[in-house]
Amino acid sequence: MTPIQHHAQLDWDDQGRPRSRVFDDVYFSDQSGLEETRYVFLEQNDLAERFAALADGERLVIGETGFGTGLNFLCAWQLFEQCAPAGARLHFVSVEKFPLSPEDLHRALALWPSLKQQADPLLEQYVAIHQGFQRLMLADGRVTLTLLIGDVLEQLPQLDAQIDAWFLDGFAPAKNPDMWTAELFAELARLAAPGATLSTFTSTGWVRRLLNAAGFKMKRTPGIGHKWEILRGVFLGWPEQTPLPSPAKPWYARPLRPTDERRALVIGGGLAGCASAASLAARGWQVTLLERHAGLAEEASGNPQGVLYLKLSAHGTALSQMILSGFGHTRRLLGHLQRGVDWDACGVLQLAFTSKEAERQAQLAEAFPADLLHILDQAAAQARAGIGLACGGLFYPEGGWVHPPALCRWQASSPTIDVQTHHEVLTLRRMENQWQAWDGERCLASAPVAILASAAEIKRFDTAADLPLKRIRGQITRLPQTRRSQSLATVVCAEGYVAPPRLGEHTLGASFDFNSDDLTPTAAEHAGNLQMLEEISEDLVDRLDARTLDPQHLEGRAAFRCTSPDYLPIVGPLADHQAFTEAYAALGKDARQVPDVPCPWLDGLYINSGHGSRGLITAPLSGELIAAWLENEPLPLPRSVAEACHPNRFALRGVIRGK
Ligand SMILES: Cc1cc2nc3c(=O)[nH]c(=O)nc-3n(C[C@H](O)[C@H](O)[C@H](O)COP(=O)(O)OP(=O)(O)OC[C@H]3O[C@@H](n4cnc5c(N)ncnc54)[C@H](O)[C@@H]3O)c2cc1C
Ligand SMILES: C[S@@+](CC[C@H](N)C(=O)[O-])C[C@H]1O[C@@H](n2cnc3c(N)ncnc32)[C@H](O)[C@@H]1O
Repeated sequence: MTPIQHHAQLDWDDQGRPRSRVFDDVYFSDQSGLEETRYVFLEQNDLAERFAALADGERLVIGETGFGTGLNFLCAWQLFEQCAPAGARLHFVSVEKFPLSPEDLHRALALWPSLKQQADPLLEQYVAIHQGFQRLMLADGRVTLTLLIGDVLEQLPQLDAQIDAWFLDGFAPAKNPDMWTAELFAELARLAAPGATLSTFTSTGWVRRLLNAAGFKMKRTPGIGHKWEILRGVFLGWPEQTPLPSPAKPWYARPLRPTDERRALVIGGGLAGCASAASLAARGWQVTLLERHAGLAEEASGNPQGVLYLKLSAHGTALSQMILSGFGHTRRLLGHLQRGVDWDACGVLQLAFTSKEAERQAQLAEAFPADLLHILDQAAAQARAGIGLACGGLFYPEGGWVHPPALCRWQASSPTIDVQTHHEVLTLRRMENQWQAWDGERCLASAPVAILASAAEIKRFDTAADLPLKRIRGQITRLPQTRRSQSLATVVCAEGYVAPPRLGEHTLGASFDFNSDDLTPTAAEHAGNLQMLEEISEDLVDRLDARTLDPQHLEGRAAFRCTSPDYLPIVGPLADHQAFTEAYAALGKDARQVPDVPCPWLDGLYINSGHGSRGLITAPLSGELIAAWLENEPLPLPRSVAEACHPNRFALRGVIRGK
């Protein structure tokens, strides 16, 4: 079960500085936190010189144990701005078991006015920071912060990254002995890039010896303030006498990028395509985005309102982890859009409309912290929702609704994304190390990298025809707001959902039809949606005068969701299906084998699809996942979750079952 994440419990001294109650230690030095950080972490890792030496398109990855108030991060970012060339990037990965509450972070960072330029955007993005991997995009994507919320010994083993410089922080070893262990140092070594550096404020002998044993060459160096000595070191290599950590299985290994050229074509202008384009553009790529309709977001991503709804599991499944990370990421992106028109954080109330649902909700409330979700009884639920309800339910205060086309348009708005509408790709060809998108007789675009983000239409391309993508038709109903329906203050869900009004209309959704291929809205489905409204709230039915509405005359729209058999999205590099089956045929006899055969990748071909009913939550982070695969960057998700979303999972299951 996912452990409940707790915020840091702080005391504030008479100078307004935070101190951890759990560890009985200070977050930064009494004398000058800034000077100490700069000396211990920035100088000892030679960051000024290393930032200045980065070429355009290059990046430096810093890893840290103990994010705390983010002081080290902000100082590193400030130095990066001062020294690095405009086209370079900074990636900062930090683990934190007890994240500060947003209020405490505001209070702590107010101590450093000289860091305001970095602290303000961090504070704006510091929302929905929950258990697991949480990615924050800063400085228009030039700076990426990946927070791993949880215990360092639980989170780091899930990280897939190559760290250039380690900041070993995390309270004094004597106050926090559980963290400063050989097991942690082995993780730092596993993740260290060749020549990685490491520094720490402690000079404790056993810490130095254990780090040396893990493959670092540590040495004492003069300290600062009341620290007599500190440690700095460099990674020499994995120690010979220790068995090497097992590498990723070849079918989940990182493919090499086909060329250094940062140019891609993306097929499909919905949430998945726009997110993929945005993540690449933020890394300096030139992207051609091909969409068959007259504008972006005209199919599944074209509803007036979609719900940011978290269907979590109390058991920490891959899907649940993906949802928690994806929700945080999307929620932070929405800060760039216009609240009230493009989205609203009005909260989402999931009614406990059956006893089974009530039981599930009780389990979730046990497993997750109250700022993510909590149970409201009937009276409290009514007060929150602003309408009469027959029962209480589970409330997600940070949830809400989004106008998906606004998110798509914002993501595709980078000047390095060339959006080509009315461009329908019929075939994809590989010629001279380029993927070419053809509409019959015309080559519409070509690039060394192609990303298929055309939902279930992906199956029309031979290279992806074997993926088990399915279409499920869905229809929403648009209901004009009435004077009395405006009291609806949160999204309310039972089987269906209804949202507070956007531009004078509520969205009521959504039907599921597994058989229909027709996208003309039907009266029968409007009637079905109205039935779901009754299940949500009789009072709202009254407020909307919904009993007087004729389904024949209701407005709405229908589109296809695109799902995979395990309900996880399909995101990552594609392999040649036939060659894959042959390469790993031995697994049909013994599934535990790992043949030493490289995966037959289709060089530069990627997919971002299968987002089902929750594309708002999974598609934007999937864009980051694709960019991380392509750029050999830290993955924005635990390795196991990235593998659970990997396109090769189906071919692998096929070979194992002998199909
Ligand atoms: C009725 C309904 C209600 C939903 N409600 C919610 C909700 O409340 N919350 C939520 O998170 N999700 C919801 N979803 C799911 C969400 O909308 C999808 O997961 C998401 O939109 C998928 O985005 P996509 O980019 O993969 O697909 P799409 O938005 O379908 O985009 C694919 C794009 O590719 C283009 N394309 C296809 N083939 C080609 C080609 N050959 N050449 C060029 N372009 C091509 C299409 O025109 C389309 O624009 C709902 C879906 C439906 C249908
Ligand atoms: C000294 S503070 C870090 C200061 C921080 N780097 C800054 O710039 O403010 C140490 C941090 O390590 C975190 N920490 C301690 N033990 C941990 C563990 N086992 N896993 C993850 N984080 C841990 C604490 O919660 C605390 O926030």
